[in-house]
Amino acid sequence: MYNAFFGFTQNPFNMSPDPAFLFRSPQHEEALASLIYGVQSRKGFIVLSGEVGTGKTTMLECLRDFLHAQQIAFASLFNSRLTVEQFFEMLAYDLDLRCNRLSKTEVLLALNAMLLERTGAGRTTVLIVDEAHNLEWEVLEEIRLLGNLENRKGKLLQIVLAGQPELDRKLEAPEFRQLKQRIALRCALRPFHPEETAAYINSRMARAGVPDQTFISPNLIEEIHLRSQGIPRLINAICDNLLLTAFAMETRVVAIGMLDEVTSDMRLEYRGGPSHTEEDRYPEIARPRLAPFHRD
Ligand SMILES: Nc1ncnc2c1ncn2[C@@H]1O[C@H](COP(=O)(O)OP(=O)(O)OP(=O)(O)O)[C@@H](O)[C@H]1O
Ligand SMILES: [Mg+2]
Repeated sequence: MYNAFFGFTQNPFNMSPDPAFLFRSPQHEEALASLIYGVQSRKGFIVLSGEVGTGKTTMLECLRDFLHAQQIAFASLFNSRLTVEQFFEMLAYDLDLRCNRLSKTEVLLALNAMLLERTGAGRTTVLIVDEAHNLEWEVLEEIRLLGNLENRKGKLLQIVLAGQPELDRKLEAPEFRQLKQRIALRCALRPFHPEETAAYINSRMARAGVPDQTFISPNLIEEIHLRSQGIPRLINAICDNLLLTAFAMETRVVAIGMLDEVTSDMRLEYRGGPSHTEEDRYPEIARPRLAPFHRD
């Protein structure tokens, strides 16, 4: 809506986990490198955990792009609220197994044959499960058993589990002990540090066609960091709403009053007080009604 007004060729703060907009923060870089290394070196189980909105699905999308480019076969399950039957059906569908996909036994036989053949030919096969914290115990147990398949060269199926921190906690439970022991690699995503938030915002706008943006000042970015607590998804939502508000007010400079309005509409709760002066709060362009709360 506001793209042309600001000179963007596409929406800079889209909510989708689009690898084209990947911001390579050191931790995202490291997580992606671990995922790729774990898969390539046939480590077996790899776990990626992180708070809501920190970029797990985005990392998995990047991994999928890599696997595609390398012609590595993979199944990827993005809906983890599955029964055991649905799990095997989806696995068979994704890996294009020629068998009765509704029969667990047939799927397992076909999968085993496929994995042996592929491994024999020096090829890797991957199972990616997003939102793994939602997996039912029975499905996790099936996944653990799939992770047991191996020959003398290593695991036949590389399994990437991604999920919110509950996943880590779930794996601590006694019934998951066996699975926990088999995890060869773990990586975690945390919210951004302030300087990462600034680089992230600028990088997304640059990717959308405006390399040296002057719409959101460094001071305001600090405030956005505080209110989003460095969570990429919240940063996107705030920035998108800010640009929309500025567009509606026909200005190319975002003011703190707009941020107040946006974060109050989003019902954001954040620690800390205002890091700006009253003068900053009411620049000429910001009408007083845009500054809904006073913190004195
Ligand atoms: N490194 C990054 N580069 C670019 N965009 C990112 C990055 N990390 C996160 N994002 C953006 O943040 C938003 C949330 O990311 P994503 O959906 O990957 O988070 P998630 O950890 O999977 O969240 P959830 O726990 O809700 O599943 C997306 O819009 C995504 O584009
Ligand atoms: Mg996700």
